[in-house]
Amino acid sequence: MKRAAARAALGYVVEGSLVGVGSGSTSRFFIEELAGMRGRIAGAVASSEDTRRRLENHGIKVFGLDEIAELPVYIDGADEITPAMHMIKGGGGALTREKIVSAVAGKFVCIVDATKVVDCLGRFPLPIEVIPMASAHVARELVRLGGAPVAREGFVTDNGNLILDVGGLRIADPVDLETRLNQIAGVVTNGLFARRPADVCLVGAAEGVRTMTAG
Ligand code: A5P
Repeated sequence: MKRAAARAALGYVVEGSLVGVGSGSTSRFFIEELAGMRGRIAGAVASSEDTRRRLENHGIKVFGLDEIAELPVYIDGADEITPAMHMIKGGGGALTREKIVSAVAGKFVCIVDATKVVDCLGRFPLPIEVIPMASAHVARELVRLGGAPVAREGFVTDNGNLILDVGGLRIADPVDLETRLNQIAGVVTNGLFARRPADVCLVGAAEGVRTMTAG
């Protein structure tokens, strides 16, 4: 189902142009599919070191954001997505670069299997990237907000930071919570992608791939 959604995303890649590529298992399927059209794209922008290596192993040229003028589309998975196209991301720990690349892209195409579509975000623990010296402070602030933060053991992000996975949140207003979490000193990025939601979601299911858009 993940591969089917990934394959369908090829239809959103603009020929002769650059494509932003996400991280995680669904994005890995997308990279394999994208390899088949490498001669028809200008290259890619990667949202993690893992993705960069995989793209380069397939002979796809990878550009930094400072080397490009525009990025028509970004394609990435999600841990949860609602019909309003708000997402939790960062299960793989690449949330900060994912949020940066998606902010630059004209269109965000999310690729998921049907298990990721939820009515309310929060069953999946919300990943938060934190500057290491701030982790105890950020954890206390998260408890005050009603969350139960757990440090992701033995994990360091591509940016040299830590991840707190926050359980116990029922996220009724994802835009508001995304904004509030960003105000905690020491938080680099939180895994709510609601201020900039996906534009399209391709949902792989046993009966085929469904296209979901907001509204
Ligand atoms: C990576 O940091 C994440 O944001 C992924 O996009 C998300 O965890 C989805 O991962 P899977 O495609 O492996 O389910």
